[in-house]
Amino acid sequence: MEVNLQNYRWWQRGIFYQVYPRSFQDSNGDGIGDLPGIISRLDHLKWLGVTAIWISPMYPSPMKDFGYDIADYSGIDSVYGNMEDFDKLLHEVHARGMKLTLDFVPNHSSDQHPWFIESRSSRDNPKRDWYIWRDARPDGSEPNNWLAMFGGTGWEWDEQTGQYYYHAFLKEQPDLNWRNPEVQKAMYDVLRFWLDKGVDGFRVDVMWHMIKDAQFRDNPPNPRYEQHMATYEQLSPVYSTDQAEVHDIVRAMREVLEEYDDRMMIGEIYLPLDKLVAYYGTDNRGAHLPFNFLLLQMQWDARQIASMIDQYEGALPAQGWPNWVLSNHDQPRLTSRVGKQQARVAAMLLLTLRGTPTIYYGDEIGLQDVPIPFDEVQDPQGLNMPEKNLSRDPARTPMHWDETENAGFTTGKPWLRLGRNYAHRNVAKQKDRHHSILTLYKRLIELRQSEPALMVGNYMPVHADKQMIAYMRTAEGHDSFLIALNLSHKPSYFTAKHIDIKGTIEIATVPGIEGSRIDGVINLYGDDGIIIRLDK
Ligand code: NOJ
Repeated sequence: MEVNLQNYRWWQRGIFYQVYPRSFQDSNGDGIGDLPGIISRLDHLKWLGVTAIWISPMYPSPMKDFGYDIADYSGIDSVYGNMEDFDKLLHEVHARGMKLTLDFVPNHSSDQHPWFIESRSSRDNPKRDWYIWRDARPDGSEPNNWLAMFGGTGWEWDEQTGQYYYHAFLKEQPDLNWRNPEVQKAMYDVLRFWLDKGVDGFRVDVMWHMIKDAQFRDNPPNPRYEQHMATYEQLSPVYSTDQAEVHDIVRAMREVLEEYDDRMMIGEIYLPLDKLVAYYGTDNRGAHLPFNFLLLQMQWDARQIASMIDQYEGALPAQGWPNWVLSNHDQPRLTSRVGKQQARVAAMLLLTLRGTPTIYYGDEIGLQDVPIPFDEVQDPQGLNMPEKNLSRDPARTPMHWDETENAGFTTGKPWLRLGRNYAHRNVAKQKDRHHSILTLYKRLIELRQSEPALMVGNYMPVHADKQMIAYMRTAEGHDSFLIALNLSHKPSYFTAKHIDIKGTIEIATVPGIEGSRIDGVINLYGDDGIIIRLDK
């Protein structure tokens, strides 16, 4: 039966774009990006062709973890603007036919949130049980061996009330107690607050952390730990994360979303594939899209990537919609992981796989990690484990818009230094250049959005060797495409054995060869990727 796009929801047909608000566009010269700044750049996103925006947290926050420590779930931090600015942003996004999704951070609040201030005020405060308080062991030590992601123990002693509280991240980010129904209700009301305003969905922070072992058992040692890793990796977090009961919470969140029309949630989950797909929930009543970080974590190796795509496709539950991510604000930038040339191949991969792609701001112009001198490091993960080089700042530097001072990002002193190459690598310069990575992104997006086979069609692996992968995308009643990507720097070729590959190159990472005919044999230079429109 002919594929009908109407049967797919906006988040299945669309392309997400992550905005890190501190670094996108400053409007008032304080060196920090803000909501009016984002509004002023929406036309870029519309032009690029992405259809949904996810903004990292813009709520009131002491910024110990740059907004992932929230002091008021229903407000806007003054550094980013005010609620009027937010309403305007939502309106302007919708006016351009795009969707807006927010970052929801349910696992922990800031220690400055009024809930925590109450909770820590006395043992019998009604909000005491809203957070995770435990007695010391008889020798005064922490209740168990759980570690914090940002270094050290996960337990902080509270002198005044004589108990420890648990924090999976910074001590300024106490974990909420999601086993408490009052917490659940308060947080579902937060979702409703934003849904009532009309936001289209949420990216849910560390979804797999929300529920911990009811008995608080010690985590076992991680046999794969190596010295260069974060200290958190010393243990396998089998009791502090991914507990069975978390799925009830995810399902309850889904039910809140379903009180409204056509809303959705993405779950941030770093887990092995079999555990990840469980977050789609029984009968797909969990997260619409549990983030798939496989491409972020893998070696850039053709065979491994091909086999991982197959494993992912195979592990998805019936009706579970796939998604793909190449970069985010917690990981080194794509260009710095795979190199400039392969970044183009990676873009072609991201935008031709089956499933919703998420693009990290700046990847469309090939931003690289910017080295931040140690005395300018801001990220707590970098500051707390200085010898391990884990700072996330390099991937969070300001966007390059043009060649004016500070790349058009701010008229003030940027909160993080910019890449030194901004005069050459910026949106304005790349926009009209046929060979730029920005043009490649735009054209890939355009093709994906206009061809049902690429947007929602089937995926069929065709070939994989140690350099190259090739696959087909098809949709009944529409043109089919074969994508061949050389993930190495050396030339490679293959002759398809079981299928007849005849067609014309529609898009190539090196545009010169577009329009060429392909008949059976595919021959690629190193770092080449091609999309072939197959003959009917
Ligand atoms: C995941 C977020 O992506 C990261 O930036 C943050 O530090 C932690 N969660 C804690 O909220």
